[in-house]
Amino acid sequence: MDKKINEFKSLLQLNEELSQINDLDAVLDYLLTKARKMTNADGGTIYIAKEDKLKFSYTQNDTLFSSNLDNKNLYSNLTINIDETSIAGYSAYKKELLNIPDCYKLGDRFSYHFNSSWDKKSGYHTQSMLTQPIKNVNDVVVGVIQLINAKDSSGKIIPFSKDDEVLISYFAGNASVHIERANLTRELILRMIKMAELRDPKETGPHVNRVGAFAAELYEHWATKNNISYSKIKKLKGNMRLSAMLHDVGKIAISDTILKKPGRFDDEERAIIKTHTIFGAQLFKNSTSELDKLSLDIALNHHERWDGKGYPGKVKDIYSEDVKMAEGKKADEIPLCGRIVAIADVYDALMSSRYYKESWTEKDTLNEIKKCGGTQFDPKLVNYFMEIHATIHAIRAKYQD
Ligand SMILES: [Fe+2]
Ligand SMILES: [Fe+2]
Repeated sequence: MDKKINEFKSLLQLNEELSQINDLDAVLDYLLTKARKMTNADGGTIYIAKEDKLKFSYTQNDTLFSSNLDNKNLYSNLTINIDETSIAGYSAYKKELLNIPDCYKLGDRFSYHFNSSWDKKSGYHTQSMLTQPIKNVNDVVVGVIQLINAKDSSGKIIPFSKDDEVLISYFAGNASVHIERANLTRELILRMIKMAELRDPKETGPHVNRVGAFAAELYEHWATKNNISYSKIKKLKGNMRLSAMLHDVGKIAISDTILKKPGRFDDEERAIIKTHTIFGAQLFKNSTSELDKLSLDIALNHHERWDGKGYPGKVKDIYSEDVKMAEGKKADEIPLCGRIVAIADVYDALMSSRYYKESWTEKDTLNEIKKCGGTQFDPKLVNYFMEIHATIHAIRAKYQD
């Protein structure tokens, strides 16, 4: 009985805690963690519906991925059709919960089949599976949550229970609000970025998506190494992604004729471009939300350098009419988020081809980043960046130009 009460208590907390999370990936991560806890499931996946397809959007598996060094499974482009042939597709298509005790014993009774290719590739054995469509208030399916391998107290895999079915359908009813809200936030940010992109063609959608994801993963790895609590990491990681996406939003204030100029900039033009850091910070003036505060810090500090030779430096009043560049911030004087985004932004710029340069090879780029540890970049963060290499790769594959 205690267990039941706890489950319902945790359902009640769900809305309150979720309303503080802005980023879509962070919302999905949180939802899946909660749903798995309630049903004691070893793993699970959330799919987001887009037109007639389900996009594989978030996955967790205690048996397969226990370390955060390898988050590449989070960045997948897999989709499945919303139709009667797959389990998740069927659940979305018919708007039905499916509770399957053993996926390998489905037989030919149903139109849907279990796809064992993932098991084969990973060496995992999927047995029990609970699949529930996530519908919004208009009865439109926005996604599907799929839990696998329920465990009893001894860790033995068992079928999902009738109670689990009730819990998960209540849970899915609440989830849609938060998924739609986080989707809206991300779309809003991408729209802001579109405006900046009109000015500076280098700041493209894929570039900011990549920089956001690199920054989020680098932060998570740094935070784990520094014993930051799990709940704080999850919350900040989401904000880090969104704020890092906005690193160059201050370019809205720089004139077209400068940003779109073919060829090299002269000194005066370069000085004007540097002010995008301060204009960006000014956009978030007077805001009390944590997301805006972080966005301000990133916009302001992403061009500071570890050795103090960056910009805009220790500007006294960034809101005054006539701001001037000041002496550069050094080492720990630069906020962590600025040091993180500096690496993410430069790595991506070097790896991308732009009209004035070819893209660098991966090897040359990593060598350059390593070489700049201690001068341009925080040397510890450079090492952490190298350690999450598999994840960085998966992010590049997901968000291509
Ligand atoms: Fe910038
Ligand atoms: Fe950038």
